[in-house]
Amino acid sequence: MMKDIQNRNDISRLVSSFYEEVRENEEIGPFFNRVITDWEAHMEKLTDFWESNLFHKAVYKGNPRIAHIHMDADTDHTVEIKHFGEWMRLWIKTIDQMFQGELAERAKNNARKMSTHLYLGIYMNRKPGIAGNP
Ligand code: HEM
Repeated sequence: MMKDIQNRNDISRLVSSFYEEVRENEEIGPFFNRVITDWEAHMEKLTDFWESNLFHKAVYKGNPRIAHIHMDADTDHTVEIKHFGEWMRLWIKTIDQMFQGELAERAKNNARKMSTHLYLGIYMNRKPGIAGNP
C-alpha cells in the first residue's frame, strides 16, 4: 500500500521527480529550460507552493498568474493548451507512481483547476496580432 503525501519532505520528493520528467520532456521541457536559470530555487519555490496549497500554510509568496504571463512572453507566445495537457499528464503520472490518498487526489485536482485559470490568464493578456489573436 502506497503512502499519502504527508509532509514537506514528501512534496519536495514529488516536485523533484516531476521536474526531472518535465526537463526531459520534448513538448514542455524547452519552455522551462529557456526560462529557468536556477533550478534549485525553482524547485524550492514549487515546494513552498504545494506545501501552502495542500497544508494551508503561508510559505509560498508569489503570483502564478503573472509568472505564466511572463513565461508566455519569454517564449514568444508559443505556449498552447496542449502544453498544459502534457504538464497535467506528467503531474498525474508522477503522483500516481509515488503516492496514494486524499492529499494525492487533492494535488491532482488543484493542479487541474489551476491549469484552466493559468491558460486563460495567458490568453487574455496576449496583445492583438500575437499567436492568432484578431
Ligand atoms: C497546468 C498546471 C500548472 C501549474 C499548477 C503550474 C504552477 C506553477 C507555479 C506555482 C509556478 C511558480 C510561480 C512563481 O511564483 O514564480 C510556476 C512557474 C513556472 N511555470 Fe508553471 N504551472 C503549470 C503549467 C505550466 C506549463 C504548461 C508551463 C509551460 C509549458 C509552465 C511553465 C512554467 C515556468 C517556465 C515557470 C517559471 C517562471 C519563472 O520562474 O519566471 N507551467 N508554475
